[in-house]
Amino acid sequence: DGIVTFYGAHQAGITTPAQDRLHFASFRMVEGATRDDLIALFKDWTAAAAKLTRGEELGSGLEPDNSYLPPDDTGEAEGLHAGHLTLTFGLGHALFVGEDGTTDPFGIKHQLPKQFEPLPNFAFDLLEGTQSGGDLCVQACADDPQIAVHAIRNLSRIAIGRAHLVWSQLGFGRTSSTSRSQDTPRNLFGFKDGTMNIMSEETKALSQHVWVGDNAPEWLRGGSYLVARKILMTLESWDRSSLREQERVFGRTKRSGAPLSGGAEFDQPDFSAQQQSGDPAIDVAAHVRLAHPDNNEGTRILRRGYNFVDGSNPLGQMGGGLFFISFQSDPAAFVRVQKSLKPDLLNEYIRHVGSGLWAVPGGVKKGEFLAQALFE
Ligand code: HEM
Repeated sequence: DGIVTFYGAHQAGITTPAQDRLHFASFRMVEGATRDDLIALFKDWTAAAAKLTRGEELGSGLEPDNSYLPPDDTGEAEGLHAGHLTLTFGLGHALFVGEDGTTDPFGIKHQLPKQFEPLPNFAFDLLEGTQSGGDLCVQACADDPQIAVHAIRNLSRIAIGRAHLVWSQLGFGRTSSTSRSQDTPRNLFGFKDGTMNIMSEETKALSQHVWVGDNAPEWLRGGSYLVARKILMTLESWDRSSLREQERVFGRTKRSGAPLSGGAEFDQPDFSAQQQSGDPAIDVAAHVRLAHPDNNEGTRILRRGYNFVDGSNPLGQMGGGLFFISFQSDPAAFVRVQKSLKPDLLNEYIRHVGSGLWAVPGGVKKGEFLAQALFE
C-alpha cells in the first residue's frame, strides 16, 4: 500500500529506506506571527501530514460543500496513493531567538538546547542567502515527485498568514542508502554514494550518532538535527578529468565503489596501504579518507541527500549537484566532518551554495501534535 506511518517514536524520513524523490522546503514565520499562530500551524500541519502520508485527500477533498469555494486539496496527487511519502519537520535557530538572535517571538527561547548553534562559516563556502536558513523546514520524500510536490504545496497553503515558503529544492535520485535492503545509488559524478552510511539496521549506531538522547529538552528527545547543504558540482570539468583522477578524488573505484586499498565495496578502506610506487593507495586528501570516522574521532553522520539539476547557465553548463542532507544527534558532528574536508580533493569540483540547520523534534504520538512538549 506504500504507506509509511507518520506517528512513532522518531519522525519518519530519517531511517526510512531513502525514497527516490525529494521536495525540500524552508519556511519563515510572517512578521507579527504569535505563539498561538505557531501552535495552530503545528496542529494543522500534523493533521495534514497524517492524511497526506496515508495518501488521503485533505479536508473535504476535491469537492467543497460550496462549489464557490476553492477545494481543500489542490488535487494533483489524486489517484497516486501514498507513494511512501514521508514528511520530516525541523525548527530553525531563529524560531527560538528571532532573526537578530536577541528576541523571543514565540516564548520558546528557554527550550533552546545549548548544542543548537548556527553553523559556522566553512572554507570554500559561497552561500547564497536565497537558498539558506529558515524558521521551519519540511523534507518531503516519496516515490513520485508529484506526491512530494503536492505535499509541500498543500502544507504551504495551510501555512498562509502564519508562515510562508522562502526557498525550496527538488531532488531526483537518492544518493544514499539508509537500509541494507537497498542497492547503493550513484551521484552525478557517477560514483556509488552512501556505501559507508549509517543504516537503519544499526540500532546502536543510530542511538549514538543520530537520535538526540534523554538529556535533551523533552520536545527534542528521539529527534535529531538536520543539516542541508546545496552543493553545486562542476560537472563539465569533472567529465574532462581522467578516470584515475576521479578515483583518486574519492579513494574508491568508479565501477564497483571498492576502496582503492583493495577488496569489495563494503570492505573497510586500509588507509596505510601503499601502491608499488610507495605512494598511499588512498590519497592523503581523498574524500573518503578525510570523511572517515578514523579521521574524525569516531564521528558518524547519517547521509540522505539527493541529486538535483536546476536547468543550465548561459555558458551551457548544467546547474546540477548534490542536495546534501545529513542527520546527527549533535550539529557538532557535521561541523567536525565538514572542517576535516577543507583539504578535500573534491573541493576542486564542488561549491556549497546553500546551507541550513534545523532541530528535528521527536516523533509525534497519535492525539498529539508536532513538538507539542515545546509549549508545555
Ligand atoms: C563518503 C560523495 C559531500 C561526508 C562519500 C563517498 C562518495 C561521496 C562517493 C564514498 C561512498 C560512501 O561511503 O558513501 C560526495 C559528494 C559530495 C560529498 C559528491 C559533494 C558534492 C560530503 C559532505 C560531507 C560528506 C559535505 C559531510 C560534511 C561523507 C562521509 C562519507 C562520505 C561521512 C563516508 C566516509 C567513510 O566512512 O568511509 N561521499 N560527498 N560528504 N562522505 Fe561524501
